[in-house]
Amino acid sequence: MSQLSIRPIARLRTERSSIKWRRYAPDVLPLFVAEMDFEPCGAIVDAVSLALASGDTGYLDGPGPLAPAFAEFAERSWGWHVNPDRIHLATDVTVGLVETLRVLVPPVGARVVLTPPVYAPFYEMVGEVQGSVVEVPLVEASEWSLDLERLERVFAEGVDAMLLCNPQNPTGRCHSRQSLEALAELAARYDVPILSDEVHAPLSHPDAVFTPFAPLAEAAGVESFTVTSASKAWNLAALKCAWIVAAGERAADDLTRLPEEVAARTSILGLHASIAALDDTEWRDAALAQITANVDLLAAELGEHVPEARLVRPDAGYLLWLDLRDAGLGDDPAAVLRDVGRVAFNSGPTFGTGGAGFVRVNLACDPSTIVEAVQRIASVVRARRPLELAEAAAR
Ligand SMILES: Cc1ncc(COP(=O)(O)O)c(C=O)c1O
Repeated sequence: MSQLSIRPIARLRTERSSIKWRRYAPDVLPLFVAEMDFEPCGAIVDAVSLALASGDTGYLDGPGPLAPAFAEFAERSWGWHVNPDRIHLATDVTVGLVETLRVLVPPVGARVVLTPPVYAPFYEMVGEVQGSVVEVPLVEASEWSLDLERLERVFAEGVDAMLLCNPQNPTGRCHSRQSLEALAELAARYDVPILSDEVHAPLSHPDAVFTPFAPLAEAAGVESFTVTSASKAWNLAALKCAWIVAAGERAADDLTRLPEEVAARTSILGLHASIAALDDTEWRDAALAQITANVDLLAAELGEHVPEARLVRPDAGYLLWLDLRDAGLGDDPAAVLRDVGRVAFNSGPTFGTGGAGFVRVNLACDPSTIVEAVQRIASVVRARRPLELAEAAAR
């Protein structure tokens, strides 16, 4: 396996211009937005450089060679048979979800189900289609699983669509095949289209099982759409290329109503990068090895310095849901950790119901960043610890 390179923080701060490095003052250690600190995958750099050098920088008319490349990747990774004719482009995953919602739901007042804690922009997407959110929170006591009983209740009351996040951001959990089968059965019974965001799936950890929703949806006769890209697993957000896969004929028909512009706005450089990414395994596996080592490191460092913290071990991706409800930092620990501790995480409450007292940690970084982040958390928590706990922690 190839060695993953990670640039030192001081260089990242001067050489990178994204939110991660520009949003906060330079003394704030950034472990928030989902961007990686890793050096890029060489094969992707080569593919994009070649396209640029040959002037292949025009508009796209459709997914072209990306469609069979993804079909091959999905078959190899998860045994999912994708029909390449049912793949459509979008600039990014969030636009893919919004544009799909637009063709499915009424122009105003759609009721869209979300299962918080969930990727915060899902709430904005529902707003973009002038709909309203129907929350069905995950069940923390059952490993952050889908609440199937409550889903059935809201489906029966009448909803227009559901946004599924699998693997779920921020918990990092891959929903079990059993719960996805049950969801597909409910969606079929109440005729609820399901849009499944599976962008973190290519980074499923070696001991986890990721189940794509589309084959289950097709078997159950549910109208379903999978929206994904290489933007998370290969850190390509800037390159603006994602794809929507229709499961079943009804979904395929509905996607023919996507405006032509949705594909034309997608980046041709992103398309070349995505094809190279789907052909890569070395870089992705090296990134995964670093991420899983970082999860263990975070657990060990927190265990030693912040025993109040409890981490939810992710099945996929590099984002980790950290429970700080016993750390005395209030409902929004990210705010106090940033302002006082000078370390930035995503704020738990922005992920919806169930997020109070949590932060989301980005582990796609150098191990030294994690050690430093825990020191900063510990200094804030220590200062707020009741005396008896402080004495126990010191023993
Ligand atoms: C679940 C999920 N969906 C979508 C996105 C954003 O993807 P894109 O930049 O392709 O819109 C993210 C980014 O972190 C995410 O975690």
